[in-house]
Amino acid sequence: MRIIESVTEMQQQAEAWRREGKRIALVPTMGYLHEGHLALMREARNHGDEIVVSIFVNPTQFGPGEDFERYPRDMERDVLLAGEVGVTAVFSPPVKEMYPERYQTFVEVMEVTRPLCGRSRPVHFRGVTTVVTKLFNVVKPHAAVFGEKDFQQLTVIRRMVRDLNMDVRIIGHPIVRESDGLAMSSRNVYLTPTQREAALNLSRALAEAEQLANGGERRGPIILGKVKERIDSNGELRIDYAELCNPETLEDVIELRGPTLLALAAFVGSTRLIDNRVLKVPAE
Ligand code: PAJ
Repeated sequence: MRIIESVTEMQQQAEAWRREGKRIALVPTMGYLHEGHLALMREARNHGDEIVVSIFVNPTQFGPGEDFERYPRDMERDVLLAGEVGVTAVFSPPVKEMYPERYQTFVEVMEVTRPLCGRSRPVHFRGVTTVVTKLFNVVKPHAAVFGEKDFQQLTVIRRMVRDLNMDVRIIGHPIVRESDGLAMSSRNVYLTPTQREAALNLSRALAEAEQLANGGERRGPIILGKVKERIDSNGELRIDYAELCNPETLEDVIELRGPTLLALAAFVGSTRLIDNRVLKVPAE
């Protein structure tokens, strides 16, 4: 497995692969890899001959006061894990390589970045779409794999790829969870044992909402009421948002009339966790 830190070198490698007729699949990450990331890499093997994982903690997607500086990093371990799942190259550029002096260009997707995480993290998606565009230009992938854990991110990237005619196939992968239901996240290392226990209420709330929907409940406010009750029942948790929306447009849903995204974000101490589930309501 190669470790590439230079943009030019990565572009030359990608060009060489393309000339040989190889298909390139990219898994963008910020590192501190866990089973969720590794599942994306295994999925990538179904879509490419050469698998590139990017490991880059992208400063432009963190707002002031967020955890850019203290975001967990462990390159040595990440490289070992990526090697074990058959990745061809790790692309891990230094910040200066991606954002040299006088950098001033950004990619902005409009409507779908506004609700949910966009409300509490106003610059976040602009940073994500900018860095993902740059990664596409550097790694030149035929396909790229993203997790449904960040459901809105996946929606935003699909929108960007369509709107800007990017020639990349976007593949979504289901959320990978710990055995007790907690969605895997690099940020879970921030949690104390008590906070980790409290965090379980997110996946529990999603499961309870699904039961309600399966039992025929179609009133959004009733479902959200139960979800909020569950999260508020634990003093360690503070809701950022709990919303029902159309999984394609991310517009608010009041009455469930088809598959509906239930998206949650909550603070446990100063750690912000997200989780979601698409409630399988048959279309009317
Ligand atoms: P990061 O949080 O490292 O996540 C990298 C990819 O792994 C994303 O597509 C994310 O949705 C996916 N992922 C994380 N946890 C997952 C889980 N439990 N199950 C399934 N997939 C999971 O998302 C980012 O980095 C960044 O915003 C990035 C796209 C790399 C741009 O900087």
